[in-house]
Amino acid sequence: MGKVITVTMQKGGVGKTSFVTNLVGAIARTDKKKRMLIIDMDAQGNVGRSFGKPVGKYENGLDSLFLGTKHISECIYKLFGNVDILPVTPDMAFLELKLFIEMQKTKRPLSILEDEIGYIKDDYDLIFIDTPPTLNFIVGNALKVSDGVLIPFEPEPYGIDGLVRIIDVLHYFRTQLSIPVKILGVIGLRVNTFTTHNENMKKARQACVNSKIKMFDTSISRSVRYSDAVQKKDLPATLTKIRKKPKDPVIDYYELLEEMIKEGVL
Ligand SMILES: Nc1ncnc2c1ncn2[C@@H]1O[C@H](COP(=O)(O)OP(=O)(O)OP(=O)(O)O)[C@@H](O)[C@H]1O
Ligand SMILES: [Mg+2]
Repeated sequence: MGKVITVTMQKGGVGKTSFVTNLVGAIARTDKKKRMLIIDMDAQGNVGRSFGKPVGKYENGLDSLFLGTKHISECIYKLFGNVDILPVTPDMAFLELKLFIEMQKTKRPLSILEDEIGYIKDDYDLIFIDTPPTLNFIVGNALKVSDGVLIPFEPEPYGIDGLVRIIDVLHYFRTQLSIPVKILGVIGLRVNTFTTHNENMKKARQACVNSKIKMFDTSISRSVRYSDAVQKKDLPATLTKIRKKPKDPVIDYYELLEEMIKEGVL
């Protein structure tokens, strides 16, 4: 039965999509037999774009599933190797509006994905859900089916506020909506150790200790490798050629993967 992991953070552009695609890339390279699915919940469709497959490439997607016009198995496509994608189509941009109108008919708006995912869960070892930078009801659907949540955090000046806020919001899901969201851990992303990031990482670690949340020792350093790989190779950087010396920054993801496996997160 596939373990479902949602990657979420309300703040935009912190590297959520890059994190999901590079982590999946690192897992796929380390264990070619691992069957994985990435569910894209963002109308921007950047998961597919990271593999050279922009929105518009796919006929069916998460929007079809939410509107009830397709079943989940009709919305899944091969991405690479043993990795599949449940993408978005251009209609995803209008989904919320359409659903707002349709919702009068839907009694369980937070359970749409839950009602479908059971049909395909056994086909995968791991299912990652990439989310938009909001906590809308679509993300609520993700949280409802998730075994755990990973929170990427960029140690910028307002980053700590964002981190504290997301922890509070997840607490709301737990207490007010009875959705038992389990936080698997916080990961420092786009970290530049020679700046104020050092100090902000320390503050984040303290905030995590105070909230009894795990923050991974390994963080992902800032590098142009990530945007370069997508731009020039149509691939997440972890799936491109990696040099050992000087140390390729992308090795961070392989180290993080090791830590996650050691901690039983994956
Ligand atoms: N470690 C890194 N160092 C530097 N740049 C990075 C790193 N990781 C990702 N990026 C770049 O940061 C930009 C934003 O990343 P990404 O699209 O993954 O963020 P996001 O949180 O998914 O954004 P959105 O909230 O819009 O969905 C991209 O150009 C990406 O290549
Ligand atoms: Mg994104």
